[in-house]
Amino acid sequence: MTEPRIAPTADVDPSAQLGAGTTVWHLAQIREKAVLGEGCILGRGAYVGPGVRIGDRVKLQNYALVYEPAVLEDGVFVGPAAVLTNDVYPRSTDVDGELKRDGDWPAEGVIVRRGASVGARAVIVAGRTVGRHALVAAGAVVTKDVPDFALVAGTPARRIGWVGRAGVTLHEQSPGRWRCPDTGELYDERDGHLSGPL
Ligand SMILES: CC(C)(COP(=O)(O)OP(=O)(O)OC[C@H]1O[C@@H](n2cnc3c(N)ncnc32)[C@H](O)[C@@H]1OP(=O)(O)O)[C@@H](O)C(=O)NCCC(=O)NCCS
Repeated sequence: MTEPRIAPTADVDPSAQLGAGTTVWHLAQIREKAVLGEGCILGRGAYVGPGVRIGDRVKLQNYALVYEPAVLEDGVFVGPAAVLTNDVYPRSTDVDGELKRDGDWPAEGVIVRRGASVGARAVIVAGRTVGRHALVAAGAVVTKDVPDFALVAGTPARRIGWVGRAGVTLHEQSPGRWRCPDTGELYDERDGHLSGPL
Protein backbone atom coordinates (compact mmCIF):
# COMPACT_ATOMS: atom_id res chain seq x y z
CA MET A 1 0.00 0.00 0.00
CA THR A 2 1.01 3.60 -0.57
CA GLU A 3 2.10 6.25 1.91
CA PRO A 4 -0.71 8.33 3.49
CA ARG A 5 -1.99 11.07 1.20
CA ILE A 6 -2.64 14.39 2.92
CA ALA A 7 -4.19 17.37 1.13
CA PRO A 8 -2.16 20.57 1.47
CA THR A 9 -4.88 22.35 3.47
CA ALA A 10 -5.37 19.50 5.96
CA ASP A 11 -4.00 20.01 9.47
CA VAL A 12 -2.40 16.80 10.72
CA ASP A 13 -0.48 17.03 13.99
CA PRO A 14 3.04 15.63 13.64
CA SER A 15 2.42 13.26 16.58
CA ALA A 16 -0.61 11.66 14.87
CA GLN A 17 -0.04 8.26 13.24
CA LEU A 18 -1.57 7.44 9.88
CA GLY A 19 -1.51 3.99 8.30
CA ALA A 20 -0.53 3.20 4.72
CA GLY A 21 -2.99 4.22 2.04
CA THR A 22 -4.96 6.57 4.27
CA THR A 23 -6.23 9.73 2.55
CA VAL A 24 -6.95 13.00 4.33
CA TRP A 25 -8.85 15.56 2.29
CA HIS A 26 -8.91 19.35 2.46
CA LEU A 27 -9.40 21.19 5.75
CA ALA A 28 -9.62 17.99 7.79
CA GLN A 29 -7.93 18.19 11.17
CA ILE A 30 -6.25 15.34 13.01
CA ARG A 31 -5.13 16.23 16.52
CA GLU A 32 -2.12 15.13 18.51
CA LYS A 33 -1.51 11.42 19.14
CA ALA A 34 -4.55 10.28 17.19
CA VAL A 35 -3.95 6.91 15.56
CA LEU A 36 -5.52 5.94 12.22
CA GLY A 37 -5.10 2.57 10.53
CA GLU A 38 -4.61 1.67 6.90
CA GLY A 39 -6.78 2.62 3.96
CA CYS A 40 -8.94 5.19 5.76
CA ILE A 41 -10.60 8.16 4.05
CA LEU A 42 -11.24 11.43 5.87
CA GLY A 43 -13.45 13.84 3.97
CA ARG A 44 -13.22 17.59 3.82
CA GLY A 45 -13.47 19.27 7.20
CA ALA A 46 -13.54 16.04 9.22
CA TYR A 47 -12.21 16.35 12.77
CA VAL A 48 -10.39 13.72 14.83
CA GLY A 49 -9.69 14.65 18.45
CA PRO A 50 -6.48 14.07 20.41
CA GLY A 51 -5.70 10.41 21.05
CA VAL A 52 -8.71 9.09 19.13
CA ARG A 53 -8.09 5.55 17.86
CA ILE A 54 -9.34 4.58 14.43
CA GLY A 55 -8.91 1.18 12.77
CA ASP A 56 -8.41 0.18 9.14
CA ARG A 57 -10.69 1.09 6.18
CA VAL A 58 -12.69 3.63 8.17
CA LYS A 59 -14.51 6.42 6.33
CA LEU A 60 -15.25 9.77 7.93
CA GLN A 61 -17.41 11.77 5.57
CA ASN A 62 -17.27 15.55 5.21
CA TYR A 63 -17.45 17.46 8.49
CA ALA A 64 -17.82 14.35 10.65
CA LEU A 65 -16.64 15.28 14.15
CA VAL A 66 -15.03 12.60 16.32
CA TYR A 67 -14.21 13.84 19.81
CA GLU A 68 -11.71 12.14 22.09
CA PRO A 69 -11.36 9.55 23.49
CA ALA A 70 -13.50 7.84 20.83
CA VAL A 71 -12.55 4.44 19.43
CA LEU A 72 -13.63 3.41 15.92
CA GLU A 73 -12.92 -0.19 14.94
CA ASP A 74 -12.15 -1.49 11.45
CA GLY A 75 -14.58 -0.75 8.65
CA VAL A 76 -16.60 1.93 10.43
CA PHE A 77 -18.48 4.55 8.42
CA VAL A 78 -19.32 7.97 9.87
CA GLY A 79 -21.66 10.03 7.69
CA PRO A 80 -21.43 13.70 6.84
CA ALA A 81 -21.78 16.12 9.77
CA ALA A 82 -22.28 13.30 12.28
CA VAL A 83 -20.99 14.08 15.76
CA LEU A 84 -19.47 11.62 18.24
CA THR A 85 -19.62 13.65 21.46
CA ASN A 86 -17.59 13.29 24.66
CA ASP A 87 -19.29 15.25 27.45
CA VAL A 88 -22.78 14.44 28.80
CA TYR A 89 -23.08 17.60 30.91
CA PRO A 90 -21.02 20.20 29.07
CA ARG A 91 -20.06 23.51 30.64
CA SER A 92 -17.62 26.06 29.33
CA THR A 93 -16.78 27.37 32.81
CA ASP A 94 -16.79 26.11 36.40
CA VAL A 95 -19.00 27.63 39.12
CA ASP A 96 -16.41 30.38 39.70
CA GLY A 97 -16.71 31.40 36.08
CA GLU A 98 -13.23 30.11 35.24
CA LEU A 99 -12.74 28.52 31.87
CA LYS A 100 -12.66 24.74 32.08
CA ARG A 101 -9.69 23.10 30.40
CA ASP A 102 -8.90 19.54 29.39
CA GLY A 103 -8.73 17.47 32.57
CA ASP A 104 -11.26 19.70 34.39
CA TRP A 105 -14.02 17.44 33.13
CA PRO A 106 -14.26 13.70 32.46
CA ALA A 107 -14.25 13.05 28.71
CA GLU A 108 -16.21 9.91 27.79
CA GLY A 109 -15.56 8.51 24.35
CA VAL A 110 -17.98 6.90 21.97
CA ILE A 111 -17.08 3.40 20.76
CA VAL A 112 -18.14 2.29 17.31
CA ARG A 113 -17.61 -1.41 16.77
CA ARG A 114 -16.38 -3.15 13.64
CA GLY A 115 -18.32 -2.57 10.45
CA ALA A 116 -20.94 -0.24 11.98
CA SER A 117 -22.26 2.89 10.24
CA VAL A 118 -23.43 6.23 11.59
CA GLY A 119 -25.78 8.12 9.26
CA ALA A 120 -25.58 11.74 8.17
CA ARG A 121 -25.98 14.36 10.91
CA ALA A 122 -26.55 11.72 13.60
CA VAL A 123 -25.36 12.50 17.12
CA ILE A 124 -23.97 9.86 19.47
CA VAL A 125 -24.09 10.90 23.11
CA ALA A 126 -20.83 10.59 25.05
CA GLY A 127 -19.86 7.15 26.29
CA ARG A 128 -22.31 5.13 24.20
CA THR A 129 -21.32 2.12 22.12
CA VAL A 130 -22.58 1.37 18.62
CA GLY A 131 -22.44 -2.40 18.16
CA ARG A 132 -20.86 -4.40 15.35
CA HIS A 133 -22.45 -3.83 11.92
CA ALA A 134 -25.21 -1.70 13.43
CA LEU A 135 -26.67 1.16 11.39
CA VAL A 136 -27.63 4.51 12.89
CA ALA A 137 -30.13 6.31 10.65
CA ALA A 138 -29.63 9.80 9.32
CA GLY A 139 -30.40 12.44 11.94
CA ALA A 140 -30.74 10.00 14.86
CA VAL A 141 -29.70 10.92 18.38
CA VAL A 142 -28.24 7.86 20.09
CA THR A 143 -28.71 8.01 23.85
CA LYS A 144 -28.30 4.29 24.66
CA ASP A 145 -25.93 1.58 23.52
CA VAL A 146 -26.87 0.16 20.13
CA PRO A 147 -26.85 -3.67 19.89
CA ASP A 148 -24.88 -5.48 17.17
CA PHE A 149 -26.74 -5.44 13.81
CA ALA A 150 -29.45 -3.07 15.08
CA LEU A 151 -30.97 -0.44 12.78
CA VAL A 152 -31.84 2.52 14.98
CA ALA A 153 -33.56 5.78 14.04
CA GLY A 154 -35.13 8.87 15.56
CA THR A 155 -34.67 11.08 18.58
CA PRO A 156 -34.02 9.37 20.90
CA ALA A 157 -32.94 6.54 18.64
CA ARG A 158 -35.00 3.33 18.82
CA ARG A 159 -34.50 0.06 17.04
CA ILE A 160 -36.67 -0.13 13.91
CA GLY A 161 -35.13 -3.24 12.40
CA TRP A 162 -32.04 -5.35 11.90
CA VAL A 163 -29.34 -5.04 9.27
CA GLY A 164 -26.80 -7.62 8.19
CA ARG A 165 -23.12 -7.24 7.44
CA ALA A 166 -24.03 -5.85 4.01
CA GLY A 167 -25.94 -3.00 5.66
CA VAL A 168 -29.26 -4.09 4.17
CA THR A 169 -32.44 -4.53 6.22
CA LEU A 170 -32.99 -8.19 7.15
CA HIS A 171 -36.24 -10.05 6.52
CA GLU A 172 -37.73 -12.41 9.07
CA GLN A 173 -37.77 -15.84 7.45
CA SER A 174 -39.26 -17.67 10.44
CA PRO A 175 -39.69 -16.65 14.08
CA GLY A 176 -36.26 -15.53 15.34
CA ARG A 177 -34.52 -16.37 12.06
CA TRP A 178 -33.51 -13.43 9.84
CA ARG A 179 -32.20 -13.44 6.27
CA CYS A 180 -30.24 -10.87 4.29
CA PRO A 181 -31.90 -10.39 0.86
CA ASP A 182 -28.52 -9.44 -0.66
CA THR A 183 -26.22 -12.16 0.62
CA GLY A 184 -28.62 -14.86 1.84
CA GLU A 185 -26.79 -14.86 5.18
CA LEU A 186 -28.88 -16.04 8.13
CA TYR A 187 -29.00 -14.47 11.57
CA ASP A 188 -30.51 -15.67 14.83
CA GLU A 189 -32.47 -13.39 17.18
CA ARG A 190 -32.62 -14.25 20.86
CA ASP A 191 -33.53 -12.03 23.84
CA GLY A 192 -33.35 -8.85 21.78
CA HIS A 193 -29.92 -9.64 20.36
CA LEU A 194 -28.93 -10.80 16.91
CA SER A 195 -26.08 -13.18 16.24
CA GLY A 196 -24.71 -14.57 13.05
CA PRO A 197 -24.29 -14.97 10.22
CA LEU A 198 -25.06 -18.62 10.84
C1 LIG B 1 -32.86 4.35 8.22
C2 LIG B 1 -32.73 3.95 6.79
C3 LIG B 1 -31.58 2.92 6.60
C4 LIG B 1 -34.05 3.32 6.39
O1 LIG B 1 -34.04 2.98 5.05
P1 LIG B 1 -35.17 1.95 4.50
O2 LIG B 1 -34.94 0.62 5.09
O3 LIG B 1 -35.14 2.06 3.01
O4 LIG B 1 -36.50 2.46 5.15
P2 LIG B 1 -37.73 3.30 4.55
O5 LIG B 1 -37.24 4.49 3.80
O6 LIG B 1 -38.61 2.33 3.85
O7 LIG B 1 -38.41 3.79 5.90
C5 LIG B 1 -38.93 2.89 6.84
C6 LIG B 1 -39.53 3.72 7.97
O8 LIG B 1 -38.46 4.36 8.69
C7 LIG B 1 -38.61 5.78 8.65
N1 LIG B 1 -37.28 6.35 8.48
C8 LIG B 1 -36.46 6.18 7.43
N2 LIG B 1 -35.31 6.85 7.64
C9 LIG B 1 -35.43 7.46 8.83
C10 LIG B 1 -34.58 8.30 9.58
N3 LIG B 1 -33.37 8.63 9.11
N4 LIG B 1 -35.00 8.73 10.77
C11 LIG B 1 -36.25 8.39 11.24
N5 LIG B 1 -37.09 7.58 10.57
C12 LIG B 1 -36.68 7.13 9.37
C13 LIG B 1 -39.50 6.05 7.45
O9 LIG B 1 -40.20 7.26 7.59
C14 LIG B 1 -40.42 4.85 7.48
O10 LIG B 1 -41.39 5.06 8.48
P3 LIG B 1 -42.92 4.52 8.27
O11 LIG B 1 -42.79 3.03 8.18
O12 LIG B 1 -43.61 4.99 9.52
O13 LIG B 1 -43.39 5.16 7.01
C15 LIG B 1 -32.40 5.19 5.90
O14 LIG B 1 -33.53 6.02 5.76
C16 LIG B 1 -31.24 6.03 6.46
O15 LIG B 1 -31.42 6.95 7.27
N6 LIG B 1 -30.03 5.70 5.98
C17 LIG B 1 -28.81 6.43 6.33
C18 LIG B 1 -28.50 7.40 5.20
C19 LIG B 1 -27.24 8.16 5.49
O16 LIG B 1 -27.14 8.90 6.43
N7 LIG B 1 -26.21 7.94 4.66
C20 LIG B 1 -24.91 8.55 4.90
C21 LIG B 1 -24.14 8.65 3.62
S1 LIG B 1 -24.56 10.15 2.74
